[in-house]
Amino acid sequence: MRRLNLLEETRFEKIPVSVFDNEQEATIKVAHRIAQVIREKQEKGETAVLGLATGASPIKVYQELVRLHKEEGLSFKNVVTFNLDEYYPMQPTAEQSYVHFMNEKLFNHVDIPRENINIPDGTLALEDIADFCKKYEQKINDFGGIDIQILGIGRTGHIGFNEPGAAMNSGTRLVTLDDLTRKDASRDFGGKENVPKKAITMGVGSIFKAKEIILMAWNKKKAPIIKKAVEGEISSDIPATFLQASNNVEFIIDKDAATDLTRFDKPWLTHDIEWDEVITKKAVVWLSLTLKKPILKLSDEDYNTHGMARLIAEKGPAYNMNIKIFNDLQHTITGWPGGKPNEDDSQRPERSTPAKKNVLLFSPHPDDDVISMGGTFIRLADQGHNVHVAYQTSGNSAVWDDDVVRYLEFAEDFAKLVGFDDKKVQELYRENVEIFKNKKPNQTDNEFVRNIKHIIRKGEAIAGARFVGLPEENIHFQSLPFYERRKFDKDFPYEEDVQLTMELLRKVKPHQVFAAGDFEDPHGTHKTCFDILYEALKRLKETDEWTKDCWLWLYRGAWHEYPIHEIEMAVPLSPQEVYKKRLAIFKHQSQKDLPVYPGDDAREFWVRAEDRNSETANLYNQLGLAEYEAIEAFARWEF
Ligand code: F6R
Repeated sequence: MRRLNLLEETRFEKIPVSVFDNEQEATIKVAHRIAQVIREKQEKGETAVLGLATGASPIKVYQELVRLHKEEGLSFKNVVTFNLDEYYPMQPTAEQSYVHFMNEKLFNHVDIPRENINIPDGTLALEDIADFCKKYEQKINDFGGIDIQILGIGRTGHIGFNEPGAAMNSGTRLVTLDDLTRKDASRDFGGKENVPKKAITMGVGSIFKAKEIILMAWNKKKAPIIKKAVEGEISSDIPATFLQASNNVEFIIDKDAATDLTRFDKPWLTHDIEWDEVITKKAVVWLSLTLKKPILKLSDEDYNTHGMARLIAEKGPAYNMNIKIFNDLQHTITGWPGGKPNEDDSQRPERSTPAKKNVLLFSPHPDDDVISMGGTFIRLADQGHNVHVAYQTSGNSAVWDDDVVRYLEFAEDFAKLVGFDDKKVQELYRENVEIFKNKKPNQTDNEFVRNIKHIIRKGEAIAGARFVGLPEENIHFQSLPFYERRKFDKDFPYEEDVQLTMELLRKVKPHQVFAAGDFEDPHGTHKTCFDILYEALKRLKETDEWTKDCWLWLYRGAWHEYPIHEIEMAVPLSPQEVYKKRLAIFKHQSQKDLPVYPGDDAREFWVRAEDRNSETANLYNQLGLAEYEAIEAFARWEF
């Protein structure tokens, strides 16, 4: 039976969704709900049956349950657990096994009797799996079914490991993992090729039988799939949509994961809103692109029939609104990213003075500068600004071992050529070839190899920056220590990184800082690099006069672009400039063809960059602005 949704605001949503400010608050709520179930059962002398998930989503729930056990006496003596899934094949002792995960995160820290723990067995012979699965289901039934089932959601829309194509009535069984799921798991396994191809998972039907189901999702990466699961049609293409047919399900998500739900993304379609400047611009751009009509051709009727009647009644007619938004967009476009000297700058994104600016471009990895803003980088240098670039991390994790071997071979031959003693190089070569032969997936490189990988990327970055036209003294390698430290230690202070960044900023005293504004991956290098820079700038603002003249511009990393309504500076590129940018990206040879971390995009970095910049240009054009070959986009950030 399908639930009735009586609320206007959530009228696109087919599942009850609670949105929390952050993961912390939300996970506490989930943990307390689980604790409540355990305690209620305890009072009645009954067993609480929990359905558990692994992965990043429930980690904080387990932390809170452990705290409740240690500090508030929550006992797990009456608890029986059934885990959703396990990779196949998988030894329980392997670090990537879900047995290991559950022990580390929960079971080792609470008083659950070991015999009450059930996790699908990854060590079974193939012919024994079907029987095992039948018994797993039977055992759940014998305990009276699962009282509360927690779930995460994969980017394929999987729940458990029920990948696209799974049936609604599926039971526990052996399944094949989706390619995207294996990519997502590749970091844990040190490469996708090491991720098992199969898993044993409870089925959609098994999950459905739970008396209560809570699905959790945090951060922006999950926003698109949450929208599909909650607002899309039920389909086996997105197995999580099956949950729409359950009456016992709740999604508990944070604001970031909720971003794409209509009530947040296009609130004018769900309820009466306050029309501030940002939302107005977003809505008009949306209207124009949806109706495939340039902004200046939108009519009152278009506004009235698309949830924007109040806007047009208050701030219309359409003619005025169209001109306002068109002009706003027009004024973001500039061929002078450092400001146009001796010109009125009241309608331009950047100041005209000083005519020659100190510019400091922060690049999280050694190639983000040219990939994300190569055209603007070249322009700034060509227009005579004093441009500096700072490579924040060494980027050594993204170099193939093969390349190290190749460079060592070169060093050996070079030593011979110039008559140096090449014994030491030969020794190093032999030693490392041996190390690579026996290297385990995910094994961290020794310091020597990390240094060579750093040098490889350093050489490429210098070649790129030189190509752009920077003098050597304007190229800075920060090698922020967090990048190395986090390989060995998860909790460490960023103080040294902030200090190093403050030092460099003080040296350059920039009028413009460019930095990567990627906030999608909260644990990713880009976000950490941004946090460090932001902290450094905020501290300097308290003491250093020059910061009053310093503007911070953000570009998006290699993966995404700003949505049109957030763009505050749009720098158009000619076909020749696009080509020059491509050549700058080519200097990063270790990242060409097949990078170590391609993400889920098979295109090479230069192709992605060109596609993204031409897409932005196309969107501007569809909105009725001039037609450019490509556009690089920036947003200003206050600090
Ligand atoms: C884990 C499981 C998966 C995960 C999902 C999300 O037992 O069955 O469905 O819940 O892949 O993973 P995270 O939470 O790591 O984003």
